[in-house]
Amino acid sequence: MAMRQSKKKRPRREDKMDKDEWPLEEGVFDRRSLLTLVRFMRKGVFKTLDYCIAEGKEANVYRGTTADGQYVAIKIYRLRSPSFQKMEGYVQGDRRFAKGPRGEYGFIYTWCRKEYQNLVLMEKLGVRAPKAIGFKNNVLGMEFLGENGVPFSTLAATGSADPNRDYALIREDIEKLRAGGLVHADVSEYNVLMTDKGPYLIDVGQAVLSTHPSAEEFYNRDLLNLRKYFSKCEGFKPGD
Ligand SMILES: Nc1ncnc2c1ncn2[C@@H]1O[C@H](COP(=O)(O)OP(=O)(O)OP(=O)(O)O)[C@@H](O)[C@H]1O
Ligand SMILES: [Mg+2]
Repeated sequence: MAMRQSKKKRPRREDKMDKDEWPLEEGVFDRRSLLTLVRFMRKGVFKTLDYCIAEGKEANVYRGTTADGQYVAIKIYRLRSPSFQKMEGYVQGDRRFAKGPRGEYGFIYTWCRKEYQNLVLMEKLGVRAPKAIGFKNNVLGMEFLGENGVPFSTLAATGSADPNRDYALIREDIEKLRAGGLVHADVSEYNVLMTDKGPYLIDVGQAVLSTHPSAEEFYNRDLLNLRKYFSKCEGFKPGD
């Protein structure tokens, strides 16, 4: 005999949508992000989301495929980022975004827009970085850096076969950015992908304009981190 359920105990429709139909998978697939992804799909940025390349503190990065079989990288920022306070300092001093929206999601949307604009600027400056494709809310589409559908690895994971050359190339890009008025501000072996065209700088949401009050400090820290990593590589001879 079927049990009769008290009306009071039945979950409300909204609760059901959150808990059953829209589970928070991998920390990024909340209802809002899914709706943003659908808009991206409708615009043709990608047709399928294939797999998660990496889960980070602030975002997850996925490989996507377009209708004509091209690969793209899709970065989805967590709407509730645990590093919110740390991120704030990279937005406050940057005049492009200092007056951007705040609030629960506004800040993350601003951060995502910032990463997009930084990638656009990097391309303009001729710096090796993934080309920006588009952004909406907390989702960023960019060039997929990989070979035969397999993403390239970070410098931390693969190491460098030619530390003098790789150091010089990254250094060159840091200087190109500086000359163009931008500082990456998080250069490390984890934010460099070793591609077939040399080392590429990634993860640029925190990059700030040179007019940021801490820009000089960030630039020096980038150089220090770079040199620290390469100093541990066999055969490395720092030029300057
Ligand atoms: N354009 C891309 N093409 C291929 N793989 C990528 C691309 N962008 C990022 N990745 C992969 O995703 C990882 C995470 O990317 P990224 O550093 O931008 O995100 P994050 O969430 O800020 O990470 P973390 O919190 O660990 O710094 C990278 O280490 C790299 O393996
Ligand atoms: Mg990173």
